[in-house]
Amino acid sequence: PVPAPFSVPLRIPPVLAPTRSTPDTDYYNIQIRETEQKILPGVRTKTLTYNGSFPGPTIRARRGRNTVVTQTNGMSTPATVHLHGANVPASSDGYPLDLIEPGQSRVYHYPNNQPAATLWYHDHAHHMEAEHVYRGLAGAYLLSDPIDQALPLPQGKFDVPLLIRDAKFDKDGQFVFVPDDFQNRPTILVNGLPQPYLKVQRRVYRLRLINAANIQPFTFRLSNGMQFLQIASDGGFLSIPAVRQEIDLWPSERAEVLVDFRSVAPGTNVVLEDTFSFTNVESKRSIMQFQVGHNAAQFDGPHSNTLPDRLVDEVPLGHATNTRRFLMQADPNTLEFLINGKPFDPNRVDATIKHGTTEIWEIVNGDTALQIPHAMHLHLVQFRVLDRNGNPEPAYDAYPKDTVRLHPGDFVRILVTFNSYIGRYPFHCHFIDHSSHSMMGQFEVVA
Ligand code: C2O
Ligand code: CU
Repeated sequence: PVPAPFSVPLRIPPVLAPTRSTPDTDYYNIQIRETEQKILPGVRTKTLTYNGSFPGPTIRARRGRNTVVTQTNGMSTPATVHLHGANVPASSDGYPLDLIEPGQSRVYHYPNNQPAATLWYHDHAHHMEAEHVYRGLAGAYLLSDPIDQALPLPQGKFDVPLLIRDAKFDKDGQFVFVPDDFQNRPTILVNGLPQPYLKVQRRVYRLRLINAANIQPFTFRLSNGMQFLQIASDGGFLSIPAVRQEIDLWPSERAEVLVDFRSVAPGTNVVLEDTFSFTNVESKRSIMQFQVGHNAAQFDGPHSNTLPDRLVDEVPLGHATNTRRFLMQADPNTLEFLINGKPFDPNRVDATIKHGTTEIWEIVNGDTALQIPHAMHLHLVQFRVLDRNGNPEPAYDAYPKDTVRLHPGDFVRILVTFNSYIGRYPFHCHFIDHSSHSMMGQFEVVA
């Protein structure tokens, strides 16, 4: 029942309205519940949703204002909600065992005390997060700040969040979830619809690319050879914008890009393509299409050469006082996904870190025999990728990052400063079919 490519218009998830606001806080209520969604034509698909929306409603937040979200679990399974990329107290982090049982509620406090960024929220219920996210529990959380507002960037309908993922449907149009079904989820969904199109004006757009797939890396490019101007990574603005021909985004990574349609001939269709290939075999598939309108180019502020050379100040490197090593590798016999040979154990702390210190984490993907990619994600922090297999990481992929991708055999070093909250937080592979099966550890920041 999957329709022809580019036959449905892109949908923008609704922006959630606060139930009330005080001078410093916006309060929201979200119901987590199973609904039926029109994803494929003529079919209703059972979907897990935040407030009946697939993907979840977008939460817009401003630096310096608190966001408080009351989540009520109307599903029959436990839930917990993690705000990915956010710097939040441990009690609001959505720890995998801080479960909201069916019928119960939990209040999450987000201080929004960090730079503007494209964040996203998703389920994290231990052993269930992969299936819950796959069936719909994810949404965008867009944090703004004075720098973001002062830059000449597209706003309103020209600032477009794109949650991109894959899925597999059965012949009745229902989701098929088989854990770790690598490269076997053939349907691309953008904001919950299959390969949609967006009619665009001949102007500059800000696209917020979010890889919301469970286990699928993407390599984005534009079919007409046009370049992206990347302005932000996982945790916010790059210091210096980067011209990119192709952008790799692995599960949970984000990139904000400006795409300039002003020089595109009216009536042209430009396809956002994915060329990721895990083998040497070339691959290409369509993600979505931009239909460039006939209206004349109009000045609307941002053009690559009207942006300042430097978007935000460079963050100085901290001085590391400790080094740790983490090996991501499946057990070759049981295929259980492990870190340093161990599955997640909530009673074990894998790294005790003194508050205020900076560390180097050496992360290795040991799955060369099985050829399994991984992506390491740390809660609480944004880190800097120092190098990969001895080579410095390009600036656009180095900082600010909360997830780092690892091809089989990769050896990556990251620099992390733990100077905000104390408490216990997970780190895990963000191929969430892997973390659901124990490729997760926890660190504890102590006073
Ligand atoms: Cu987006 Cu613990 O994850
Ligand atoms: Cu993994």
